Amino acid sequence: MLKPLVAVDLLFQFNKTNNNMKEYIPGLADVPATESSISSIDGEKGILAYRGYSIHDLVKHSTFEETALLLIHGELPTATELSDFQSLLQRRYEVKRKIRSLLWALPSSGHPMDVLQTAITAMATFYPDAGASTPDSAYTQNALVKIISNMSTLVAMWTRISRGYDPIPPSNDMTYAENFMYMCFGEKAEPEIVKLFDACLILHAEHTINASTFSAMVTASTLANPFSSVASAVGTLSGPLHGGANENVLAMLNEIGSAKNARPWIEKRLKNKEVIWGMGHREYKTKDPRATILEQMIKDYVKKSGHSTSNLFETALEVEKVCEELLAHKGVYPNVDFYSGILYSEVFKFTKEHFTPIFAMARSAGWAAHWHEQVSHNKIFRPTQIYTGSDFRDYPTQ
Ligand code: COA
Repeated sequence: MLKPLVAVDLLFQFNKTNNNMKEYIPGLADVPATESSISSIDGEKGILAYRGYSIHDLVKHSTFEETALLLIHGELPTATELSDFQSLLQRRYEVKRKIRSLLWALPSSGHPMDVLQTAITAMATFYPDAGASTPDSAYTQNALVKIISNMSTLVAMWTRISRGYDPIPPSNDMTYAENFMYMCFGEKAEPEIVKLFDACLILHAEHTINASTFSAMVTASTLANPFSSVASAVGTLSGPLHGGANENVLAMLNEIGSAKNARPWIEKRLKNKEVIWGMGHREYKTKDPRATILEQMIKDYVKKSGHSTSNLFETALEVEKVCEELLAHKGVYPNVDFYSGILYSEVFKFTKEHFTPIFAMARSAGWAAHWHEQVSHNKIFRPTQIYTGSDFRDYPTQ
């Protein structure tokens, strides 16, 4: 039998040897954590594709509903499959009465992302049998559709309830994008505005294993139900280094105030080692293709509507120009969050605290696809660590 001191020494020795054999990669940068067939990025060329289809083509030719089915099932649906899915979503727009009451019980100052996460978690209580052991059963598939469908209703409801107004009931003959705008504003939006918003939903629907999707996958890998998985993802998306950046971009552009202030503002910020919101991405070493499309959407909208470009947009263009000069050598360019807020606030008239929830409702399609892929080929995520704490030591007994 070893003396306690010797045992402690041996254990310490083992720990050190074990640590030396591992390399720590901060933020798991470039570490493949899964195999996935859902989407792909070429970060050098600035290309994003869902199931092999370029987002440029999807934005031009598809709809959010069709894209969601593509992500979940792997192929573009037939016309019948698409119309069946559309009516399934429409029949599930309505939120359960008790979930509605839950929203009324929350403080009106609550951030919509916290509200959304709470509501999605609570929804699991209505689907106790939706789970990883039956990912393809009608019951579980129905739960996945319910999540995607209700995300839009929940986000729209909170835009009303948080201001003390009754929610506007969903309209079961409208598309996902059209119905969302209707529930927020109480009137039908113009078809070209709906088309533009639908394109934004497509652009945000999926993006390989970013932080929130990874978080959804980690939760799924424990065989937790899809509600828990999506709730984890919503919480992760809310941070300003991820989806929450779109809110900060708008605040930043307002603080800069006008194009002429952009350069000194950015220089000061970089000198203080602070990030420029909406810039930089782990995967892209060039401009994020979604930012390119969103910027063009604003330009096309301005041209069509005959208005002049807004001060906010002019400021953003100048910020991009200055950042290209100062940050391109680090591979830092605009990401998806850089231009989305301008569209959301100036064209669709959403207030900034709803930008990230709108991102989340679009991304629910991607999360649902990843939940299914994960539980269908599951291995629980359980990485290891490099221990940096104190040596093994005796507990002081006196
Ligand atoms: N503003 C200024 N500098 C930035 C920057 C930004 N937005 N993003 C990255 N950089 C710089 C870093 O300071 C670092 O410089 P250094 O090598 O001199 O230290 C270099 O570029 C590499 O950045 P790093 O922090 O290692 O990149 P990352 O892959 O770990 O981080 C983000 C990626 C998205 C978290 C980061 O770019 C960021 O914080 N962006 C702002 C928040 C944002 O818009 N998030 C939404 C992402 S879709």
